Amino acid sequence: MDTKYEGKTMNSTETFEWGEYSSNAIDYIANSTAWMNIAVGSVRSGKTITAITRYLEFMITSPHTDFMVIGKTLGAVKRNVVKPLMAMMRSMGINPVHNRKENEVYFMDKVLALYGMGKKDDEEKIQGSTFAGAFIDEGTVITEEAFKMIISRLSESGAKMFVTCNPSNPNHFLYVEYLMNPELIREDKLRKWTFRLEENKNLSKEYVENLKASYPEDSVFYKRYILGQWVSGQGAIYDKFNKDNIFSGSVDLDHYDYLEIGSDYGTSTTTCYALIGIKEYEDHNEYDVICEKGFDAKQEGVTQTDAERVEDIYQLQEEYGLDSTCVFYVSHDAASLLSALQKDHRIKMSLDTFTPDTLECIREISSLFYKNYLRVHSSCTETIKQVESYEWDMKAAQKGIDKPVKKDDHYPDALRAPIMNHLFEDAFYSDLVYL
Ligand SMILES: Nc1ncnc2c1ncn2[C@@H]1O[C@H](COP(=O)(O)OP(=O)(O)OP(=O)(O)O)[C@@H](O)[C@H]1O
Ligand SMILES: [Mg+2]
Repeated sequence: MDTKYEGKTMNSTETFEWGEYSSNAIDYIANSTAWMNIAVGSVRSGKTITAITRYLEFMITSPHTDFMVIGKTLGAVKRNVVKPLMAMMRSMGINPVHNRKENEVYFMDKVLALYGMGKKDDEEKIQGSTFAGAFIDEGTVITEEAFKMIISRLSESGAKMFVTCNPSNPNHFLYVEYLMNPELIREDKLRKWTFRLEENKNLSKEYVENLKASYPEDSVFYKRYILGQWVSGQGAIYDKFNKDNIFSGSVDLDHYDYLEIGSDYGTSTTTCYALIGIKEYEDHNEYDVICEKGFDAKQEGVTQTDAERVEDIYQLQEEYGLDSTCVFYVSHDAASLLSALQKDHRIKMSLDTFTPDTLECIREISSLFYKNYLRVHSSCTETIKQVESYEWDMKAAQKGIDKPVKKDDHYPDALRAPIMNHLFEDAFYSDLVYL
């Protein structure tokens, strides 16, 4: 066997069920012959499937052999691009081989290298390599350095880029430096196609309606993901949080399928915990913030040691009779607390860590508040206060970055892990055909 076929291969035999291509999609496939070809617009509007269809044709007809696919993470690349791409190849009688060890796909005489480039320094993965084409899925979630590096590596003659993205902040580099770049547009180096959700006839009406109902129409997420507009968030982030999201009275822990604790860790600020009850229903999950506990170092005038934090966590565990079925999530920047918890034999809860994707967490949590699937017990006064005052950082927005003001954000941040790790597989996260 050729060395390039070493490593684990994916033996799926799945083929692609060709559906309907909108007139916009057909136009993209026929005319994406510029240096950079961007499919931008609403979620689920067919951008990725359309651009993959074109990229496959581009690679097959290219005299070159080396190509790449880039996304935020390798997992996302494999799920959203490689899976349908390989299925399309099989439907065309091409037998691709996925080398999971090398993160490459081989077909005909071609090598398709797969990369996740959502993190700082990810661009180093392709330093020094040469490619004839790049497929960038979700272009707004890879770093600017990675984007520039990809461009610099496309040195083969006739090299092209095929990019898909949802709209983001209007100051985002992809919008300012590329999509709106008058020179690139005038010289016809960049072509863009705007896709709309309604154009995708492969989705059921009910699915589209559910998707639209996920966000209030005046929210930044509705404007971006449904209407396809480049807008930034302004003012309160959880502006749909209201009295209906607050519940009171005694809590029956047996009502919940899971009890989990999220945390936020600050050595000189606040460390806090949120006990969340999760109830699974057939078509959604509901989340109740049952109890909060925290220590504000600034207010107390002293900092807490990890041993003291472990004591607080132990007390919380005992108060609610929690055992190994309860997961306690330690925030990603709290290695010393994790180690202190692991060493303390009184801690019966399972321990896990969580690294947040700030924007995704905000998008999900605001949607849950809107649908009233996330409620906070009236005794959690700090959580309620901070959820109400959680606001977009307008200075960061001017630099194209979506993030909340880093002030009084500890309690809302503590909600993230249990929620994000128990997401109902809904509209945004389940691919109708390929997941
Ligand atoms: N030509 C097609 N043939 C078959 N199915 C299609 C086709 N175009 C779109 N679909 C279906 O529509 C779904 C959404 O399409 P696609 O993933 O391309 O959208 P997208 O615009 O990239 O969405 P997102 O912004 O969420 O990444 C696909 O998972 C697939 O089920
Ligand atoms: Mg896509």
